Formats: sequence, C-alpha cells, structure tokens
Amino acid sequence: MAYGAGVDVGSTQTKAVVLDEARRIVSRALRPTGANVVRAAEEAFHEALAAGDLREEEVEYVVGTGYGRYKVTFGNTQVTEISCHGRGAVHMFPGTRTVIDMGGQDTKAIRVRDTGEIVDFCMNDKCAAGTGRFLGAASSALDIPLDDLGPTALRGERPVKISTTCTVFAESEVLSWLGKGKKIEDILLGVHQSIATRSVGLLRRVGIESEVTFTGGVARNLAMIQALDERLGLKVNVSEDSHFMGALGAALFALDHILASRTPVPPAQRATP
Ligand SMILES: Nc1ncnc2c1ncn2[C@@H]1O[C@H](COP(=O)(O)OP(=O)(O)OP(=O)(O)O)[C@@H](O)[C@H]1O
Ligand SMILES: [Mg+2]
Repeated sequence: MAYGAGVDVGSTQTKAVVLDEARRIVSRALRPTGANVVRAAEEAFHEALAAGDLREEEVEYVVGTGYGRYKVTFGNTQVTEISCHGRGAVHMFPGTRTVIDMGGQDTKAIRVRDTGEIVDFCMNDKCAAGTGRFLGAASSALDIPLDDLGPTALRGERPVKISTTCTVFAESEVLSWLGKGKKIEDILLGVHQSIATRSVGLLRRVGIESEVTFTGGVARNLAMIQALDERLGLKVNVSEDSHFMGALGAALFALDHILASRTPVPPAQRATP
C-alpha cells in the first residue's frame, strides 16, 4: 500500500493529512504554525505519521501548500492553497461549485469546475474585516477563547451593528459596545454577522453557484455557518474535515503523482525491442 500526504502550512495553523491509495484519510494532524514554520510543518507531518502508525518511507510523495508551502522542506512539490482547497472541497462534496475558505488571516472565495479545477478566485486584499483575524481581535478584546466565540454568539438575540471596516479598530468598537452595556453574546453575534456579510460580498465577486462548501478553521464555528447560511439562503457544506480541506487537496495531488507514475504503458506505446 502506498501513501500520499499533504501539509498545509497556514499563517495560523499547520495541518497534515495522509491518504491511502483508495484516497481514504488515514490520519490527520493540526498544530499552531508559530514562529518556526519549518518545524511546524515537520511536527504536523510526523504527528500524522504517528497517528496512522506509518513510517516516513511509506509515504511516497508529499505536497506542501498554504502560505508556508516552501517551508515544507521534506515535500516533493508545492501547490497553491487555492488549488488545494478547490480540489479537497470537490472531493469531499462533489456538487461543490463555490468554495469559501476562512482561515486565520485571509478569506478566499473560489469557483471550481466539477473536476476541482479553479475557474476564478478572489481574496480579501487590504481589508481583514471579513476574516478570522477579526474573530481573533474580538476574542482578545472580550477575553474569550476562539472556540467559545461561536457558541456564545449563538445565544445572542439582538445583534449589535458592527460599523468598523478595519480589524485594527475592531477591538475598540467591541469594547465600546461593552461600555454601552451591550451583552457579550449580542456583540459577538454582530461580529459574526459582519464577517459573514463581507464574505458573501467576496463570494459575489466570483459568482455564487450552488453548492457552496465552507473550508478553513472558521468552518468549525457554528455561528459563522449559521450566519453564512442565512445570508446565502442555502446550507453551506461543512464537515469535521473542513479545517483540513487544503491539506486534503494537497494529499490528493500527491496521490495523483503516485498513481500516474505507476500507470502501465499500453502495449501499443511500448518500444519494440
Ligand atoms: N475549534 C475552533 N473553533 C472555532 N474556530 C476555530 C477553531 N479552530 C480554529 N478556529 C479558527 O480557525 C482559524 C485558523 O484557521 P486555518 O487553520 O484555516 O487558518 P490558516 O490556514 O492558518 O490561515 P490562512 O489560510 O489565512 O493563512 C483560527 O484563527 C480560528 O479563527
Ligand atoms: Mg489556510
């Protein structure tokens, strides 16, 4: 049995996925990227190997992706995260035609063909107000762990209207709502709704075609799933592997390479002795 792996070195978290020849997920690992990007990639890969009870030699090909893809020093090649999220999303949800990837720093809207190939994509450029970074700012302003933000927001009933369009000012706006006596859950619901509205704006720029698949770490956040569903008027596809979609796509590209290098040459094309 041969194995292929993908390592997605994101700005915030590093993800690794190992696939077997049948494109089944054997194991996954997740680590903070931190300052030592090379080490984060190595550690995520080794953690995934250990989780799958595999030796490094058993993994024939490794593809690096994400902003730190060139730091996957043990990788055989690199593929952009846009291509990897597109490929992973179509593999997991074959009806996918639009992908929204919300990570720690950036949000990307991607349009794909049924093959997973990219038709078009769009990224938040200067403004981080529609991204996970905005959630990070709210999390530190309110002193609430990132994974409690969604559940807290879901308890909100009267969302505040977040007017800030810049992450730099998000913290002070959140604090000023707190100063005005607003409930934390209503502030957080407003924060999620504001991010979702901006993300839908980004999706509109590439064109929204159903099905829409939500990828990246923010896809773990139930309040964000709900806010996107409401604004899009449909149910986005999410799975517990959504956070690993880029690494999954990279591992699929790795497997393509392994399987292509094995395809026997048809008799007609063989050189005659
Ligand atoms: N358990 C969780 N609950 C809620 N949100 C989470 C959870 N885990 C991660 N996140 C969110 O996901 C973000 C990280 O997502 P991801 O790993 O996709 O980012 P990244 O790939 O490092 O960043 P980028 O793609 O922008 O370079 C965190 O910043 C946080 O907002
Ligand atoms: Mg990412």
